[in-house]
Amino acid sequence: MTPDDFDFIAALLKARSGLIVSRDKVYLLESRLTPVARRRGLDTLEKLLATMRRQVDEELTRTVVEAMTTNESFFFRDATPFDIFRDQVLPRLREHNAASKRIRVWCAAASSGQEPYSLAIYIKEQEHLWRDWAIEILATDISTQVLDKARAGIYTQFEVQRGLPIRTLIKYFTQSGETWQLSKQIRDMVTFREFNLLESYRNFGRFDVIFCRNVLIYFDQETKADVLNRMREILPTHGTLFLGAAETVLGLTDRFKPVPGQRGLYVTSDAAAAAPGSGVRQNVAAR
Ligand SMILES: C[S@@+](CC[C@H](N)C(=O)[O-])C[C@H]1O[C@@H](n2cnc3c(N)ncnc32)[C@H](O)[C@@H]1O
Repeated sequence: MTPDDFDFIAALLKARSGLIVSRDKVYLLESRLTPVARRRGLDTLEKLLATMRRQVDEELTRTVVEAMTTNESFFFRDATPFDIFRDQVLPRLREHNAASKRIRVWCAAASSGQEPYSLAIYIKEQEHLWRDWAIEILATDISTQVLDKARAGIYTQFEVQRGLPIRTLIKYFTQSGETWQLSKQIRDMVTFREFNLLESYRNFGRFDVIFCRNVLIYFDQETKADVLNRMREILPTHGTLFLGAAETVLGLTDRFKPVPGQRGLYVTSDAAAAAPGSGVRQNVAAR
């Protein structure tokens, strides 16, 4: 790949999805985009890039951007964030939102649905507590391919073996040949929508909880900071943010604070300031 080709595709990916590709990742471009080229009847990545550089083809651009996304996900990934959500965040929201009886959760890079469905399963398990509540789970992703898979709720044996307790599998999934489909009642608890994190969040309204896990790692510092600051705009003071285990707000924004001892959980700086030395408990007590 020529340096010009590399600069072209790297700039396009950053502008369209935030993805940063360094020069040592040329092999990734080759392995993910050569199949896209082949599907177009072109035998090399260089020919694909030449086509793209000759004229703008929006559909091809989208296909290329999607092909470069890493969609790895699994049920109850890292376990702790989901337990914190169930055992700490939900009980606090039950008090805080008692008047509206409404909770809004956004999974901002939901991939094939395991993350929002894990939340839905935990809520379903506490069904008796939430009968007269409206709990909305909005799950978005830039990739339409993973969203189609998410909506169908169909997973391979390998996918259900990663993170799902057998009891949960048997309770909420139906086996069909080699695959397992999640029950309609859980699927219906989640709304999936195509959405690019680089776009404006203003039309979404406000959320009580945002899961933005394992996507910021692909962005540069500036984009990470921008996403976090804009997420703060749509979280009220009592809101909570969950990031992936390898992600942080530190050095990016001072509008969120990590909760000591609760890896991956962040509260707004306003809430943290109101409850110095805060954990979620104090944070909530201060609301
Ligand atoms: C590694 S998966 C993480 C899935 C899930 N959050 C988890 O932690 O298991 C990252 C997801 O981010 C999505 N993504 C990448 N760039 C995005 C963007 N600019 N806007 C929205 N989603 C994006 C990818 O399509 C991919 O499905």
